[in-house]
Amino acid sequence: MAILLDAQYVLVRFFFTVLFPRSDRWNLLALEHPLIIGPIQVSPGVLLAPMEDVSDLPFRRICRELGADIVYTEFVNAEGLLREDPTGPRRTFHKLDFHEAERPLGMQIYGASELSMEEATRIASSRDPDLIDINCGCWVSNVALRGAGAGLLRDLPQMRQVVRRVRSATDLPVTVKTRLGWDAETIQIVDVARMLQDEGVSALTVHCRTRAQGHKGTPDYSWIERIKAKVSIPVILNGDITDAATAAAAFTDTGCDGVMIGREAIRHPWVFSEVQHFLATGEHLPEPTLKQRVALCQRHLKYALEYYPERYGLISLRRHFAGYFRGMRGAAALRQELGQEKDVATLQQRLEQLATASDLVAV
Ligand SMILES: Cc1cc2nc3c(=O)[nH]c(=O)nc-3n(C[C@H](O)[C@H](O)[C@H](O)COP(=O)(O)O)c2cc1C
Repeated sequence: MAILLDAQYVLVRFFFTVLFPRSDRWNLLALEHPLIIGPIQVSPGVLLAPMEDVSDLPFRRICRELGADIVYTEFVNAEGLLREDPTGPRRTFHKLDFHEAERPLGMQIYGASELSMEEATRIASSRDPDLIDINCGCWVSNVALRGAGAGLLRDLPQMRQVVRRVRSATDLPVTVKTRLGWDAETIQIVDVARMLQDEGVSALTVHCRTRAQGHKGTPDYSWIERIKAKVSIPVILNGDITDAATAAAAFTDTGCDGVMIGREAIRHPWVFSEVQHFLATGEHLPEPTLKQRVALCQRHLKYALEYYPERYGLISLRRHFAGYFRGMRGAAALRQELGQEKDVATLQQRLEQLATASDLVAV
């Protein structure tokens, strides 16, 4: 059945490649080929990546409104969930908070021990997200060298155990996000994908770099096609998707079932609407105006204040000012000014003023 589907898909791709000029065919392809993860179906799949300290509740709401089809929590430490002092600030537990408007939402957990991951999955599932994602890609030393995140790529039997236990602890779809391999010499992603499919994983996201690369070097998308040739679960491509053109090319060139966007969402959260619009119409959206930029920033502030205590709400927005005003003349000074503001009312007034200002123009 999977082979038949693959053959059909190759034929469909060939048909579109021949009949439609490059600029017209990807949108048909992406729409022909929805991303299906358990009961979730989106088309085309343009996803917000999980990002520690970035993809918090307010930012996820913003990205969802701008067109991200599925959003993910920051990664949540399984051990942290199990050990957190119930009388303390419960920072790890708060990472599981979400707003209904974010659905479909994935909760990402990480850990080296299958027992902790099983228990953490029970806790996360009890919050009723739409899926559980296992982080098998984090490259930072204090995660990967302890056997969690990308560390699981060096111990595939343990990755299998973790996936098995996580699946046993939830009825939700379980997905995995990983990298090509530990380093260039040990790339086993095709075998990993097969193993994950055998273990009942519902979708696989591949950051097309190795652990050794971190965020450096060019991601190698060619692996996506090789994975797709061997498994029938959806494969989501991640790494350096920065605009409508790179997203469209990823769909056409690799046959991926979805793309996941990380850093560009910080630099330019409108990337989701731009990609979605381009995939649906073949037209490029104009750059957001100053008014739209300020309005989005105001909305982000509103969501942050609804969720966080005032002081932290302001702090949480700091890392996003650069993105909201990037490319505008005076943006650097403005970012600094807004980032230093400690009073909510003053910040709101300043944003109000900016909405009608003429001194901040596109360069
Ligand atoms: C600040 C930051 C935090 C991240 N945190 C996570 C995380 O919690 N879980 C995860 O799977 N990946 C995490 N990543 C990796 C991203 O999800 C993504 O795989 C990577 O940035 C490549 O995609 P991009 O080129 O679109 O940014 C993080 C990346 C950044 C820049």
